[in-house]
Amino acid sequence: MLNESLLATARAARIRAYAPYSGFPVGAALLTEEGAVITGANVENSSSGMTVCAERAAVMAAVHAGYRSFKKIAVVADCSPPPSPCGACRQVLWELAGPVEVIMGNLENEILTESLQDLYPNPFGCGKWIDNPVDESLFNSVEGWRIPVSFHPIGYVANDFNDSDHIPGNYKELLSRVVIAPEFEEGLYRIEEEEKINIISYLHRARGYTLKGRRPGRGNEVYGVFVCRAPLRPNSIAQTTVDLVDRDNNVLTVRGADLANGTPILDLKTIMPGN
Ligand code: THU
Repeated sequence: MLNESLLATARAARIRAYAPYSGFPVGAALLTEEGAVITGANVENSSSGMTVCAERAAVMAAVHAGYRSFKKIAVVADCSPPPSPCGACRQVLWELAGPVEVIMGNLENEILTESLQDLYPNPFGCGKWIDNPVDESLFNSVEGWRIPVSFHPIGYVANDFNDSDHIPGNYKELLSRVVIAPEFEEGLYRIEEEEKINIISYLHRARGYTLKGRRPGRGNEVYGVFVCRAPLRPNSIAQTTVDLVDRDNNVLTVRGADLANGTPILDLKTIMPGN
């Protein structure tokens, strides 16, 4: 994955910081060996020693999500030079991530890159390290299904639909762009052969859900949420079939998307033959 993409993700994660005391939000994005990206942001507390830095928040989230091998971490804050991880984060990163590449960026696109080994040459270790690999057995057991999953969007929708509650009524005739991140562009190989594609997206502005609601396509009668296309659903996932009009490298032009500007795209899939 490109350092610029990981930095862009860290920059986006920074928005989720809770930093009312310092006013200094920090975002971090950790790239796993498998290619997943896990983010973190600093979370402060009035009992100031309880504050958790962005880098450690990302490491903790990644370990809990089942990752133990990491390649790179990006950190972004609004300072020059770009933020260098604090000593506590270097110690924690070293133990769980090892000699990863640390990419430090700011909002002016200044970038510094160093190996964690150089940033933290003599880490503490008590010498009683017991190998504790991720236990995959939970995933293979019946209870494993309850573990929440996280996704790393592959791109976003760009159009003029800025009010997610009011997509234009004639959206079926309107054009949108589907912008795929550079690191996933190769996955579009031969997409020009398709007339229609399915966009799986995440309705990022939807909040909460109801399990029953009115279904416009069926005389406004009440149906379960899994029996309609309502946006307020437990996982805020949408599936939309669109016409593929054009491709320019990583940017697709499509017709018929009922998705607001900026909607993150989780996946693109072709139409099942016969559908
Ligand atoms: N902070 C981080 O998130 N990462 C670092 O590497 C250094 C500092 C946060 C902690 C605190 O919320 C704020 O920056 C100001 O110190």
